[in-house]
Amino acid sequence: MRLDLDRIRIAAQQAQAETAEPFCAYIYDLEALRRHAQGLLATLPANCELFYAIKANSDLPILQTLAPLVHGFEVASGGELEWVRGHFPATPVVFGGPGKTDSELEAALCAKVEYLHVESLGELERLAWIARQRGQRATVLLRINLALADLPATTLTMGGRATPFGIDAVQLPEALDWLRNHPELRLRGFHFHLLSHQLDAEAHLKLLQSYFRQVRQWQADYRLDIDQINVGGGIGVNYREPGRQFDWQAFSRGLGPLIEREQMTGWRIRFELGRYLSAACGSYVMEVLDIKENLGRTFVVGRGGTHHFRTPYAQGHSHPFEVLPVARWPYPFVRREVRDTAVSVVGQLCTPKDVLATDAPVERLRVGDLLLFPYAGAYAWHISHHDFLRHPHPAQIYLPIEEQRHAANQ
Ligand SMILES: Cc1ncc(COP(=O)(O)O)c(C=O)c1O
Repeated sequence: MRLDLDRIRIAAQQAQAETAEPFCAYIYDLEALRRHAQGLLATLPANCELFYAIKANSDLPILQTLAPLVHGFEVASGGELEWVRGHFPATPVVFGGPGKTDSELEAALCAKVEYLHVESLGELERLAWIARQRGQRATVLLRINLALADLPATTLTMGGRATPFGIDAVQLPEALDWLRNHPELRLRGFHFHLLSHQLDAEAHLKLLQSYFRQVRQWQADYRLDIDQINVGGGIGVNYREPGRQFDWQAFSRGLGPLIEREQMTGWRIRFELGRYLSAACGSYVMEVLDIKENLGRTFVVGRGGTHHFRTPYAQGHSHPFEVLPVARWPYPFVRREVRDTAVSVVGQLCTPKDVLATDAPVERLRVGDLLLFPYAGAYAWHISHHDFLRHPHPAQIYLPIEEQRHAANQ
């Protein structure tokens, strides 16, 4: 994942110069997103597909950029389904996630989603009942929670231990027995999403190997007519050490041979990545409102905060940032600044939890400069509590893909 922030830096400085109020924005580089997605797709083996888990960032320009490239979208609510179907009626959609309501299941059948990823025996029963009433057949993958002995350790696990996600593998015989008597549901395979924040390519290949072996074992043990395996998302972004990202080249180099070795070439293997697809294309930018010393620490107060950009708080990290110097200084008094100091960057909320970065070294930082937080294109604006304190929302700026820019200039 190569990070090239030049377009975002320039756009931030230009937009700030045109704004009278202190500046705050999300800036997305759609060309970078397009290139990144194309790069991933170009290296996937022939029987692999890449879906985008839109929960990471469902902004329309993001989806419009990805729709012609990826194989489809993964949605996890009726709202996401409606949003995708309203704008992309022909794009393949799969519907996963816990706690699906009857009306969401019905909407999924109505919208002809390709697969429903079923999370529990209760959901299986309700889906069959709804499909029967509609005289329709639903195609399903069972989401299974596997207790793997060597599940890689990451900071966010959805499986491999007691969680609300997926069907416990010990309940599989019961689910399969039940499915045999319910032809209104057609089982096509299995879905797994045991973890997020995977940073180790080798470990991820091992995890996929475990999925492949397990699925082939079930196929043989229960004589299943299946050919689909959804290996979820979960490839991470290294916010703590941005120079050491997931090694996609190594991963994709190892994936083809793994598929051959495990005799999975006849299967369709689907990824539904969120964070790894969209995080790098977006940055959150805030103007420095104040710099102050308080009981021995230096605080930098920015325009905005965790109500816009909750990612560092949600993930428990100090988010990396860079300083974009701004010349403008409209006041008749001296500009406050710090040099060669470790600072904590906080927002405008009345809570000590409104912290974006801690003990971060800066060479020079002045009131009125901009702070640019990269890797803010996924699980950022969309997971934040926007209206806490009713501060204004940040600007949302989408830098167009090259073809759109050329067309607009002609
Ligand atoms: C079922 C499922 N699939 C895919 C994803 C996307 O995960 P990530 O953004 O880590 O790739 C998630 C995230 O929570 C998920 O729950």
